[in-house]
Amino acid sequence: MEEQELRVRKIRDGTVIDHIPDGRALVVLSILGITGEEEEVVSIAMHVPSTKLGKKDIVKIENRFLKPEEVNKIALIAETATINIIREYRVVEKWKVKPPARFRNLIKCPNARCITNFGREPVEPAFEVIGLSPVKVRCSYCGIIVSGRDLLELVRQ
Ligand code: CTP
Ligand code: ZN
Repeated sequence: MEEQELRVRKIRDGTVIDHIPDGRALVVLSILGITGEEEEVVSIAMHVPSTKLGKKDIVKIENRFLKPEEVNKIALIAETATINIIREYRVVEKWKVKPPARFRNLIKCPNARCITNFGREPVEPAFEVIGLSPVKVRCSYCGIIVSGRDLLELVRQ
């Protein structure tokens, strides 16, 4: 049991997103559409000491289980994250996120001239992951490469 166990209490049912890179918890909340208007109980811990990461963030959402596209989006900006499914206080499932090799519709292309951003027939954005840690993606249509802060911005939208 790690020291941070004492910082945020255990949950009965829901999802714990652990090992989020330091300071990224708010982007994770934004991916999940959590604004503060909803009913779910949400706990956030930021800058928690971690043996593996030095510092990390943690997000716990009670009674919510994430959709695959939400997990994929988290993987783009928090590649160290682990998803823990909690039922009756027990971790019943745990996995490390992994960006999909290619994906559609998770983020928009930042290139205004890209075919996914204009025209009468909308083309769904599509990207390939061309680098991991840090994640680097390339638009399948215009070839623009996005990583780092720019990727963070796109995921936040
Ligand atoms: N957790 C929780 N509520 C529970 C059970 C676990 O909030 N009822 C949280 C723990 O605080 C931890 C995460 O879920 O942040 C994973 O729990 P566990 O696997 O027990 O912790 P570790 O062994 O430290 O996990 P890891 O090896 O992934 O670091
Ligand atoms: Zn593009």
